[in-house]
Formats: sequence, structure tokens, C-alpha cells
Amino acid sequence: MQIISKPEKLFKILKILKLKSKTIGFVPTMGALHEGHLSLIRQAKKENKIVVVSIFVNPKQFGPKEDLKSYPRPLSKDLAFCRKEKVDFIFLPKAKDIYGKNFSTYIQVEGLSSVLCGKARPGHFRGVATIVTKLFNLVHPDIAYLGMKDAQQLIIIKRMVKDLNIPVKIKAMPTVREADGLAISSRNMYLNKSEKLDALVLSRALNLAKLMIKNGARDSLSIVNRMKELIKQNKSVRIEYIEILDTETLRPLNRVIGNYLIVLAVRIGTTRLIDNFWGKLSR
Ligand code: PAF
Repeated sequence: MQIISKPEKLFKILKILKLKSKTIGFVPTMGALHEGHLSLIRQAKKENKIVVVSIFVNPKQFGPKEDLKSYPRPLSKDLAFCRKEKVDFIFLPKAKDIYGKNFSTYIQVEGLSSVLCGKARPGHFRGVATIVTKLFNLVHPDIAYLGMKDAQQLIIIKRMVKDLNIPVKIKAMPTVREADGLAISSRNMYLNKSEKLDALVLSRALNLAKLMIKNGARDSLSIVNRMKELIKQNKSVRIEYIEILDTETLRPLNRVIGNYLIVLAVRIGTTRLIDNFWGKLSR
């Protein structure tokens, strides 16, 4: 496994490999790797000759009051994790090499970026879209692997790739969960024991919605209201949003139909958690 920190070096090495027709699978991360990342890396290993993982806590996607400083950075653990999975290249850049002096170009995916998490985190998706574009330009992956847990991020990146004709296939991988249903996330490590128990209400609310839909419910408002009732039973969980949306446009659906996405965001203590369910009902 080779660790590269300079963008130009990464670009040069991968360009040569590409010329030799080596397919490149890419897993962009901010480190603090967990089972969710593992599923992305393993899928990338299965489908490509070369696997590149980037580890970069991107300052441009954190708001001024967010957890940039405290974001977990267990680097040696992350490197050991990747070594074990036989990752070929780790891209570990410094912020100053990614955002040089006078950096002033950003990618903004209109509409999709200002709803849901974009409301609570203004500028977040602009930061994500910008870094992901830069990483795609440096790595030139054939396939990039992203988790369905970050549904809005995934939908925005797919839209950006399509709109800007970026020559990469985006592969979405299912959310990995703990045995108790909690969606695995790097931010779960902020939760104490009792908050971790409180957090189970997210997957429970999604399961309730799934059951209602299975039993024939189609009215989004009544499904969302039942989810809210369930969550509100737990006084330490504050709901930020619960919505049922179209998976491509993120427009709210009055009725559950076609490719739909149930998304929720809550705060438990100082931690913000998101979860979702991707469903399909024939029209
Ligand atoms: O999902 C993440 O870890 C980040 O948002 C990403 C895609 C690596 C961009 O910094």
C-alpha cells in the first residue's frame, strides 16, 4: 500500500496506471473508517484492478460552529484498516495542498443542496461537491463508491456527475447497521451509552414507516406523523426533519410511489444523526 500526500504525485502515478488499462475504484473518505467504509472498499476491490482511498477531513464542508477540530482522526488505525484490506493507494493530502493560495472556485449543485441537511448546514454540500470534483479530477476513477446512508450527498454527487459529464460511474452501497439497527457512522463515537440507546429510535421510526407502507399506507403525511409520534416519546431526541421524497429530485411526495426516500435527521445531545430508507413501489 502506497501513501501519497501530494496531489500532483497521485495524479501522475494514476495516469500511468490508467494508460496501462488498469481500472481504478475510488473510495473518498474523511477517515475514522468503519464497517460502512469496509463495504465500499471491499466492493471496489472486487470490481477494479486498483483501489484508491482518500482520507481528508475537508474543511470546506464544515460550518464555523461545526466539529472540524474535534472530528475523529485515528490515522494509524485507518491505515492499518486499509492495509488489511489490501488497498493500493491512500491519498492523504494536506489542506494547503488541496486549497492553495487564492483558492476561489466552487461547485454548487443548485436546489438539491439547499434542502434537508443543506438547511441546517449552509455551504456543506458546496464543500462536498467541490472536494469530490477535485478528487475525481486527481484520481480519474472508473467507479467511485459512496454510501446510501448519506442519501442527500449521494444524490447531489450523482446529479453533479451527470450535469458536468464527469466520466465516472457512481456506485451506491447499502447502509451498514449495527445488530441493533443503528446506522454506522463516524459521528456515532460522539454518543454516550444512553444516547446510543436513544439513537435506536431512528431505525425504529424507519421500520414503522416500512411496515405501514407494506400494509398499504400511501399518504406521506400520515406516515411522517406516526414516525414523529414514535420519536417524540423519547424526550432526549429532537427532530430536525422527517420527509418522504423523490430519490432523484428530492421533491416531497404527497403519496408514496415510484422511487421514494424516507429521510430523517435528529439531534441527540450535541450530536446530529441522519438515517434513511430507499424504497420502490411500482406506479
Ligand atoms: O462522506 C464523506 O465522508 C465526505 O463527505 C466525502 C464524500 C469524503 C467528501 O469529503
